[in-house]
Order: sequence, then structure tokens, then C-alpha cells
Amino acid sequence: MPGSCGQDEHDLKGVKMELLEGILTRRSVRSYTSEEVSEEDTRRILSAAAMAPSGLNNQPWRFVTIRGEGVKEDLSRLTRYRRIVISAPLLVAVFIDRGAMYSEVKDHQGIGACIQNILLAAHGLGLGAVWLGEILKSAEEVRLRLGLAEQMELMAVVAIGHPTGESGEGVGRLPLSELLLREM
Ligand SMILES: Cc1cc2nc3c(=O)[nH]c(=O)nc-3n(C[C@H](O)[C@H](O)[C@H](O)COP(=O)(O)O)c2cc1C
Repeated sequence: MPGSCGQDEHDLKGVKMELLEGILTRRSVRSYTSEEVSEEDTRRILSAAAMAPSGLNNQPWRFVTIRGEGVKEDLSRLTRYRRIVISAPLLVAVFIDRGAMYSEVKDHQGIGACIQNILLAAHGLGLGAVWLGEILKSAEEVRLRLGLAEQMELMAVVAIGHPTGESGEGVGRLPLSELLLREM
């Protein structure tokens, strides 16, 4: 089995929020205080990310954490969400390792689960986060700026920090009546 990790490394105790409550109350947070995201919280978030399901348990995700002002400044020039990238105390760039892949569709599905785990873990820790996809238009530039090998393909940048306040109403969702095609 590829890359199994010890229990300790993935210990998320201290996450107090009920799972379903966390799923239902998570909203994208795009405004942060200047307070740093602790190393401990960063580890917990990455541990949650690493616990995502993947086809064949191949775990194709790889991460880069970014706190440095210079790197953030450079990345911010590659997206229209410049303000978010600059102001977030922590960025997690999520890559897919093309060398670890076995299925184009299924590996990308796994990456989606991984990124959702990052969002939910951040929320569970009282942090706010947003999944930034627009920056993928500059995926190659991001990879080069971070000094990564060609087989690392950018999947998202997640901005994380302490929320400045309420995340607000957020956007609504389609009613289940439009989503549930059949009950057979
Ligand atoms: C694949 C993907 C790409 C996204 N890209 C961006 C982005 O570039 N900028 C941004 O502000 N939000 C981005 N979002 C966040 C969505 O706008 C947000 O999840 C959606 O509007 C629902 O709002 P909520 O997360 O508050 O429930 C992205 C979300 C996903 C899943």
C-alpha cells in the first residue's frame, strides 16, 4: 500500500465541530486578520488533506505551504484574486503528481476530496479558507515559481487565515428537488 503514515501524524484531536455541522456551515472566507496560522493547525489541515480517499489509495496529492511575503506577492500577480493571495497568512498550493496517477478522472476526483478536506479542517479549527481555481490559468508559472518538477501540476491554491468576521450568508444552493433526478 503506498505511503501509510503513523497514527500520530494524522491525529486531529482538538477538532471539536460535529462533522455534519461543519459540512453545512462551511462557507468560503476571503478576508483574514493578520494573525498567523499556527504550525500545529497547518499540520492538522495537511493531515486531514492526506486522509482523503483516492482510487487504489494512490494519494496523488502533493502540497506546498506558502507564508513568505515575496512568494505571495509573486503568486498574486498571476491571478485576479490578488488581494486574497496577498492577505492570506497561509496558502496551500495543491498539486497532482502526474507520476503517481493511474486514471485521469479518478485521480482528479481524489484531489477534489483532498481539497474539500482542507476546507473542512480549516473550518473545524475556526479558520477560514477559500479554494482558488482561477489561478490555474497560470499553473505553469506557479509551478516554476515554487521550483517544482514538471510532473507536478497545480490543482488549486487554498487561502487560509483567521476570518475577519462573519462569512455572511454566502451563496445559496439549488433545491434538492432540482438535483435529485430519480428516487427509484
Ligand atoms: C473548483 C473551484 C474553483 C474555485 N475558484 C475560486 C476562485 O478562483 N476564487 C474565489 O474567490 N472562489 C473560488 N471558488 C469558491 C467558490 O466560489 C465557492 O465555493 C462557491 O461560490 C460556493 O460558496 P461557498 O464556498 O461559500 O459555499 C472555487 C471553488 C471551486 C470548487
